[in-house]
Amino acid sequence: MKRAMMYKTIEFLAVAGIAVLLSAGVATAAGGGAKQSKDISFSFEGVFGKFDRGQLQRGYLVYKDVCAACHSMRLLSFRNLNEPGGPELPVDQVKALAASFEVTDGPDSEGEMFERPAIPADRFPSPFANDEAARAANGGALPPDLTLLTKSSEGWHYPWYSSPFIKLVKGNGGPEYIYSLLTGYEDAPAGEEKEGLHYNPYFATQWLAMPAPLIEDGVEYGDGTKATVDQMARDVTAFMVWAAEPKMEQRKRIGFMVIIYLSVLALLMYLVKKKIWRDQH
Ligand code: HEC
Repeated sequence: MKRAMMYKTIEFLAVAGIAVLLSAGVATAAGGGAKQSKDISFSFEGVFGKFDRGQLQRGYLVYKDVCAACHSMRLLSFRNLNEPGGPELPVDQVKALAASFEVTDGPDSEGEMFERPAIPADRFPSPFANDEAARAANGGALPPDLTLLTKSSEGWHYPWYSSPFIKLVKGNGGPEYIYSLLTGYEDAPAGEEKEGLHYNPYFATQWLAMPAPLIEDGVEYGDGTKATVDQMARDVTAFMVWAAEPKMEQRKRIGFMVIIYLSVLALLMYLVKKKIWRDQH
């Protein structure tokens, strides 16, 4: 009786698992007109993955010098650039950097808003006063805030890549999507032109309002790295992944220790169980 129930349960779990797999596959296959993202490897992938400090610093430079003209990163403050697990810029550098931006503060004692140099505790200033202004400057399209975009983007469009098991290892492909989009601009197919839109097979509808933002040597890296489009795309993507989860390294470290702890505990429990039940069969 007991055994029969166990088989039933296993059967149920297997069927449910397959159903979830299939529905996930069908859902993404139906949803995407976009090309599968390039599967490139980043230093922060995997259980022991870490950010490359130099890469995060370069990525910030790309954001600041290129993307920040159109995209906000509202959830970041200048001081985050100094915190452990991130780009870890020295404090005095962060202060100087913040001071190079003007932010609106107030109201003062007369009720007026005023401009002042930013301090490390200030959030990154946004390029536009509001979404309407941002749309108006970009042909009606809204440049999304980049802080959490690597988390909400989806790079895998083949059904088997979308299976929960592969996602456990490969994630959603958000970083891969950002990289592929930035490096994936192509000439529009012959005879097809769309006013104010640019052709990119990685974008959901293939046509987007953002012109290719990266050009060779578009920024000047302080560490001597050559600013190829590929390099800048990798660097700014890594920076965005960190921005979306500044405590990633800490999370992985703690997670690993918890697994070790639970393994030791499980072993002890097993030995205790064996001792208690030794002569009682
Ligand atoms: C000239 C303004 C401009 C610049 C510079 C710019 N973008 Fe964009 N970006 C846009 C606009 C506008 C959209 C919305 C496009 C649309 O919906 O058609 C967009 C959309 C995006 C998207 C979202 C794609 C999606 O799936 O919806 C990403 C990712 C992105 N930009 C990243 C970047 C990065 C990274 C940089 C810097 C390397 C950058 N952008 C520079 C204007 C810009």
